[in-house]
Amino acid sequence: MRLAFITSNLGKVQEAKKYFEPLGVEVYQLYFEYPEIQADTLEEVAEYGVGWLAGRIDGRFFLDDSGLFIEALKGFPGVYSAYVYRTLGIDGILRLLEDAGDRRAYFKSVIAYWDGELHLFTGRVDGEITTDRHGSGGFGFDPVFKPTGFERTFAEMTTEEKNRISHRGRALKAFSEWLKENLK
Ligand code: IMP
Repeated sequence: MRLAFITSNLGKVQEAKKYFEPLGVEVYQLYFEYPEIQADTLEEVAEYGVGWLAGRIDGRFFLDDSGLFIEALKGFPGVYSAYVYRTLGIDGILRLLEDAGDRRAYFKSVIAYWDGELHLFTGRVDGEITTDRHGSGGFGFDPVFKPTGFERTFAEMTTEEKNRISHRGRALKAFSEWLKENLK
């Protein structure tokens, strides 16, 4: 089976490919820019994107909308994570947290799959924002996110390790389990 992943983010593609490879599913990137609306939740952003794409792409596809939610910043950057990464960047986030005693944060991922109907799968991972960057793997905020129970950031993990515990890995797991049940 082949699955189109609509995204411009190569880091996300790499993770989905690695996840599905052992399951005999080939994920391929389909670059198709779609509007990301301003909304309060990742689910709304993902749902709107799928609705817009469904009229323009033949066949099944999925996309991922994700974000970093920092407790001391009341959930910011959340749905604005991509924009904040491009503008403030990691250094900007570290500066905002300079005096913060509470460095807890979580990543959330919403995978939206379209097969004529919409199916949503979510995953979350809790952790904390480190005070400095560590590691060179992954993408985005990975160098400063240390999942709870681990002494390394996501950027210090292999893709397989990150997938086992990450928000996206968890959403991909729910997605793949659903596919197994529903594509019998
Ligand atoms: P979007 O899903 O394209 O709206 O982008 C989400 C943004 O959140 C990305 O550009 C990253 O900055 C950040 N992000 C989402 N998932 C991850 C992850 O697994 N690691 C690091 N940063 C992430």
